[in-house]
Amino acid sequence: MEPSWLEMRWARPLYLAFVFCLALGLLQAIKLYLRRQRLLRDLCPFPAPPTHWFYGHQKLLQDGEMEKLEELVGKYPCAFPCWVGPFQVFFYIYDPDYAKAFLSRTDPKSKYLYKFLIPCLGKGLVSLEGPKWFQHRHLLTPGFNFNILKSYVEVMAHSVNTMLDKWEKICGPQDTIVEVFEHITLMTLDILMKCVLSQETNCQTSSTHDLYVKATFEASKIIFHRLYNFLHHLDIIFKFSPQGHRLQEMVKILHQYTEKIIQDRKKLLKNEKKYGNTQKRKYQDFLDIILSAQAENDNNFSDTDLQSEVNTFMLAGQDTMAGGISWLLYHLALNPEHQERCREEIRGILGDGSSITWDQLGEMSYTTMCIKESLRLAPPVPSISRELSKPITFPDGRSLPAGITVVLSIWGLHHNPAIWENPKVFDPSRFSQENSDQRHPHSFLPFSAGPRNCIGQQFAMIELKVAIALILLRFKVSPDPTRPLVFLPQIVLKPKNGVYLHLKKLP
Ligand code: HEM
Repeated sequence: MEPSWLEMRWARPLYLAFVFCLALGLLQAIKLYLRRQRLLRDLCPFPAPPTHWFYGHQKLLQDGEMEKLEELVGKYPCAFPCWVGPFQVFFYIYDPDYAKAFLSRTDPKSKYLYKFLIPCLGKGLVSLEGPKWFQHRHLLTPGFNFNILKSYVEVMAHSVNTMLDKWEKICGPQDTIVEVFEHITLMTLDILMKCVLSQETNCQTSSTHDLYVKATFEASKIIFHRLYNFLHHLDIIFKFSPQGHRLQEMVKILHQYTEKIIQDRKKLLKNEKKYGNTQKRKYQDFLDIILSAQAENDNNFSDTDLQSEVNTFMLAGQDTMAGGISWLLYHLALNPEHQERCREEIRGILGDGSSITWDQLGEMSYTTMCIKESLRLAPPVPSISRELSKPITFPDGRSLPAGITVVLSIWGLHHNPAIWENPKVFDPSRFSQENSDQRHPHSFLPFSAGPRNCIGQQFAMIELKVAIALILLRFKVSPDPTRPLVFLPQIVLKPKNGVYLHLKKLP
């Protein structure tokens, strides 16, 4: 009788390999099943929106409509679990007491979002953990001290005025509709180029930097898409996907750009030292601070660390600022009475705006209230996340086990009807001293709070004030009713179709 194929010599190893793989697959499937059962059990105290068994709530939040999130915030008090695929949960919280409990801990950043950022930013302040994060934060904090920030006011004003000169040319004497987000993005890039790298690039007037700006925009879009597509959570699938390839191209553009600037600065410093002709720069930029941190800590601060921190500042400070300024302008366009009140205040302090100083910025109290209200309505960083390293018990007694990814939805918190009356209404009086004092301190967190709060928040507030003051002195802004602003919640909030405003040059 002929032997069956299983009895052939070549078939045995193949058969064994097949059985082995099957057993492995089965084991993995059992593990995933048990994980899902455990998650379902742990999360049962927290009601969730109806979910698809395979996609979970992926479709709900991937489409990025903030209205959907607001509906859920109204319906599920404090928190709800959001399933991304059958085995992964992002636990959304948006209650001040929950936020306080969450931010007072030192859980590591969630491996999803932040791991996805590493190819772009490298391992800098945003993604580092533990003693290395502490060391970098300690070394870089002096870069944001009062004296350094003070010297940036003039630099910022110069960049804002460059943008306004462009707007004057576009508008002439007439009222003209302009897509302002692109202009503002270039302006914030210009400011960072000068404050981080002392680069006078003329990026607002020449197009040589378009590639860098487009690369930051596209990279952020791909990373957000990856976050809500659970198959792309696996490196092996993502790397070989078209988006993975595209991201690699974008990262190459971003890194080459900053690397060249760093190398040029190092060469310059070396030559200055060699020939003893050290030139005193007008102000100290972040690269100076980081280079001196490196000089003091040669062994602990490598060239890779240096490059990562430069990339981190350039990217963390650009999109956030472009959004912050654009949303503020949009909100003031929609609310002309508040726009006019800000303008009056600014005129009273700055006159014609030919110069602007640090002390004057401190006097803009109504404008600051409008800035805060805009940051509440449209927080440029809509959410942050951590992976619980140990169980957490919230003040209402409900708990979560270690290992869960918790997302603090800053947008959800800022639109929570339990804290904010008429949350959709632009009302700067919410930020009067009296009203602020009565609110839970964790109700308003555009820059997060606790040890990992935004290192650039003072810088950001200065830039917002300088930008809005100079814009309002030269232009009246009103909305284009045919093109309302629609937000895309990527890592940083983005406009879906730009920000269109009527600009009218003031006499
Ligand atoms: C309106 C503008 C800005 C907003 C709303 C904002 C918001 C935030 C938030 C919410 C975080 C916490 C992130 C987390 O916990 O995962 C953060 C962290 C950070 N931000 Fe900002 N940011 C702004 C501007 C800036 C600027 C201008 C810079 C730098 C020039 C900057 C640099 C950073 C860095 C380096 C971190 C990480 C800090 C750490 O973990 O130690 N940000 N920012």
